[in-house]
Amino acid sequence: MRYVIDNEYVPLWKEALPFQDKRNDKGHAFVVTIYARLVCTVERCNLNIVIPAAILHDIGWSGVPLRDRMAIFRFDTSAEAKLKARLAHQEKGVALANKLLRKVQYQKEAIPEVLDIIAQHDTRRGFVNDNEGAMRDADKLWRYDEYGFLSDYLNGTGTILDHIVDQENNIEMKEFFCFDSSKELAHRLTSRLRERYLS
Ligand SMILES: [Fe+2]
Ligand SMILES: [Fe+2]
Repeated sequence: MRYVIDNEYVPLWKEALPFQDKRNDKGHAFVVTIYARLVCTVERCNLNIVIPAAILHDIGWSGVPLRDRMAIFRFDTSAEAKLKARLAHQEKGVALANKLLRKVQYQKEAIPEVLDIIAQHDTRRGFVNDNEGAMRDADKLWRYDEYGFLSDYLNGTGTILDHIVDQENNIEMKEFFCFDSSKELAHRLTSRLRERYLS
């Protein structure tokens, strides 16, 4: 994994930083953005859309009460409660992202598509286009990246085996990943987790 922040996105990073990683998931936005860059390169998507969407996708959690934010990780939280929290972070995320993108004078013509990705990145069924698919695949790849996996595991309930099996079962689920290349990467990362933590 190559860790790079392209210079052109530094102003947006700086503006977004106070609102990032509000679920005991330090580094989430950064790791997702790194994977977004990787998926974009492999699948030839538009970096100008996908990178700002990745940077800003979860800043809306900063406006959701802590209890609701963290309930997402628990196996015993109802599906209804999880959905409510997800919708809230998307709605708040769009409003805040719009403000920050305009503050750094981001390309005006790119803003509607970036906001549309953020608006339903956790709840939309299916994918609207490759740019949206790339950002959402990157968000999910965090769960397979060793750092992201451990972060989610430590936040949650259940054993490490529960978490690995759960994530493994998700990979081939319909409409979980947009691209086959993301599925292959998730399988490779899961094998590494199995080797490291279950053997
Ligand atoms: Fe999210
Ligand atoms: Fe996320």
